Amino acid sequence: MMKTVRLHDLEFRKSIPTDRVQLAINAVAVRVNHDYKGKRPVILTVLNGAFLFSAELVKKFEGECELSFIKVASYDGLEQKDEVYTVMGAEPSLKDRDVIIVEDIVDSGNTIETIITILEQEGVASYRIATLFYKPLAYTKPYKIDYVGLEIPNDFIVGFGLDYKGLGRNLTSIYKLYPTQKPMKNIVLFGPPGAGKGTQAEVLKQKYDLVHISTGDVFRYNIKNATALGTEAKAFIDKGQLVPDTVTINMLSAEVEKNPDAKGFIFDGFPRTEAQAEALAVLLESKGTDVAGMVALEVDDEVLVKRLLERGKTSGRVDDADETVIRNRIKVYYKETAILKGYYEKQGKYHGVDGVGTVTEITERLSKVIDTL
Ligand code: AP5
Ligand code: MG
Repeated sequence: MMKTVRLHDLEFRKSIPTDRVQLAINAVAVRVNHDYKGKRPVILTVLNGAFLFSAELVKKFEGECELSFIKVASYDGLEQKDEVYTVMGAEPSLKDRDVIIVEDIVDSGNTIETIITILEQEGVASYRIATLFYKPLAYTKPYKIDYVGLEIPNDFIVGFGLDYKGLGRNLTSIYKLYPTQKPMKNIVLFGPPGAGKGTQAEVLKQKYDLVHISTGDVFRYNIKNATALGTEAKAFIDKGQLVPDTVTINMLSAEVEKNPDAKGFIFDGFPRTEAQAEALAVLLESKGTDVAGMVALEVDDEVLVKRLLERGKTSGRVDDADETVIRNRIKVYYKETAILKGYYEKQGKYHGVDGVGTVTEITERLSKVIDTL
């Protein structure tokens, strides 16, 4: 089941599932059948949005009825326009008929007002209003809404006949727009072992209110807690080799899913292969976002070795304890990971930063880049 959908430039999240919509329609149908028993009403469907709701209602109507359609325009994308105008008249003649106006949604009530004016001019015997959705907070008109499927807050919704710029009508659940939604800022912090990714991520995550995910840290946490994942990863990590892609990708996805409200992520130590970069692109796309940029810390190999040997004295990291393992990590970086520079360069997303200097100096250099993303 899709939790989010993207229509044109906007993302919508599921808010009312199909079965709740169906229950609401059934309840309206029961009341309409009760009220129109023995009568022969004209069911006047307001196009385009109400066609699905109306079809369901008509199928459930137990007596005789006739159908008519009216088209009134009041929306241009998200903006409600002031004027509402008739595009198509109602056929057959509505004179002396009992009319059920079927709407998909009633918000300000402008459309309803226009239709009621037309019906009064036509000289109908009676009219009642049925709507699948009703926004009591937005409604400004005096007319009674006789049948309401679901009352909803003042959100912009799509699905079950309702659209955003023509799209979304075929969705069977209801999805709503998150108006305060800001685009996520996702940064890939890149660089060879010991470049200072972890050190800088600690500062940047505070500064930009981002969630920091270090695949190395997650592996080490699993190793410490002797999980199955930890045991599997340890054999590779201790030798300075990469953990296989599928294991790493699944783990990274799970970490991202743990943070549904994140304003963005700092990925540290991921991606390390093209397969991982592709997987990251797919994962973020499913959330309607992408990698804003790769920011790479550039540091000479000999400085890296010195830093890691120094850290190895106290870190307890097996892969820091032995110079040959450290050099192997650097070798693996150039052989398997460095190609990602080209991968992101092609997308115009690579930004190299000098990684030698004080921690504060380097944070400033990184921030200059991140502020532009
Ligand atoms: P990971 O944990 O990512 O290790 P790494 O890439 O080798 O990098 P480090 O964490 O050692 O360095 P860092 O750049 O974070 O630098 P830090 O800030 O700590 O990965 C470990 C292993 O897990 C991999 O080898 C692999 O086996 C596996 N793995 C992880 N991700 C994977 C993936 N995506 N796919 C497959 N396998 C994966 O700084 C280093 C030291 O330098 C510190 O002591 C720090 O205090 C010091 N320092 C930092 N900044 C400065 C500065 N400006 N001046 C002086 N010293 C500094
Ligand atoms: Mg690190």
